[in-house]
Amino acid sequence: MKKPIYLDHFSTTPVDSRVLEAMLPYFTEVFGNPASQTHCYGWEADEAVENARGELAKLIGASPKEIVFTSGASESNNLAIKGVADALAGQGNHIITLATEHKSVLETCLSLQTKGFDVTVLPVNADGLLDLERLISALTDRTILVSIMFANNEIGVIQPIDKIGKLLRERGILFHSDATQAVGKLSVDVSRDSIDLLSLSAHKFYGPKGIGALYIRRGVKLATQIHGGGQEHGIKSGTLNVPGIVGLGKAAWYARSEMGEESVRIGKLRDRLQRQILTGIDGVTVNGSLERRLPHNLNISFEGVDGESLLNSLKDIALSRGSTCSGNSFHPSHVLTAIGLPNQLAQATLRFGLGRSNTEQDIDFVADRVIQAVRNLRCKAMTR
Ligand SMILES: Cc1ncc(COP(=O)(O)O)c(C=O)c1O
Repeated sequence: MKKPIYLDHFSTTPVDSRVLEAMLPYFTEVFGNPASQTHCYGWEADEAVENARGELAKLIGASPKEIVFTSGASESNNLAIKGVADALAGQGNHIITLATEHKSVLETCLSLQTKGFDVTVLPVNADGLLDLERLISALTDRTILVSIMFANNEIGVIQPIDKIGKLLRERGILFHSDATQAVGKLSVDVSRDSIDLLSLSAHKFYGPKGIGALYIRRGVKLATQIHGGGQEHGIKSGTLNVPGIVGLGKAAWYARSEMGEESVRIGKLRDRLQRQILTGIDGVTVNGSLERRLPHNLNISFEGVDGESLLNSLKDIALSRGSTCSGNSFHPSHVLTAIGLPNQLAQATLRFGLGRSNTEQDIDFVADRVIQAVRNLRCKAMTR
């Protein structure tokens, strides 16, 4: 069976074969536990972990000691937010986040309400961007943490992270950013952007699933969430996933050397796809800021079509829809709702997530299929 064209790179990416190759010996030959400091099996594994930590630190402008390995961005987000909340509960109980955050941030913040924390969920403008004045007016002398994502996983919008970081640093408020969709796609620098805590995940940039990291700026105290043997400075106990960490380090290395050129190439493909769809059919809206957007992302709503029928007629393209369905009920994506899309349009929204494997040929094929599918569905709707 011919597989569909993969345009769902925001969901996950394949492991780069060079990354896989680097990981393989760590499953079998170099299998030691890095915590075993009494023999060479442990030393070798430990050395590999520390090399990977160094590579990842370089990718985000951090020092290796500021990196804690986790199982992925969901865990990093939980660790950052709950860790700060528990550590600083005596100083304040107010946390600010954004309506378009990933659920692992939103749900974590909301879970803290049951423990007496006040959570402000800021709205976004129609282009998906945060209004800085709104953030400033939401700050109180009880605010201990602001969690704002770097780039959105549905509409690709890039928040003004440097400005947010600067204004929070001036006020002495901790800044956490979920940079899961930014790391490996664009330049991320925790010092430049005054970020105190940053979450990332390897499988979004051609590394393996189940491994990620939390950057914790030196001096920032987190209350331990996973107690145990004291690995990762006691912040995240548990035997380290050495092959995963090696993969994360390699993926970081390749991202640092290749992402600049690759983002330019992908941006051209995305613009080509957008141009072809917009000139091919009308009644189409591109969601999210056109100026501050990841080059890999195109999020489009189609008027006058049923989203499910649209996706069903695009079986040769692997895409994601701007909604989820459970049973017979339809839930528009909270991101599309936050930018003001009515349910009707949100359900007829597609997210195109471009990545390494995509070519001009793919894009022309996809544009053609989408245009045909939308035309057919609109025709059917008119003749019904
Ligand atoms: C913005 C964002 N944050 C967090 C996550 C969760 O990442 P992980 O799968 O590593 O837990 C994702 C994954 O889709 C994401 O896109």
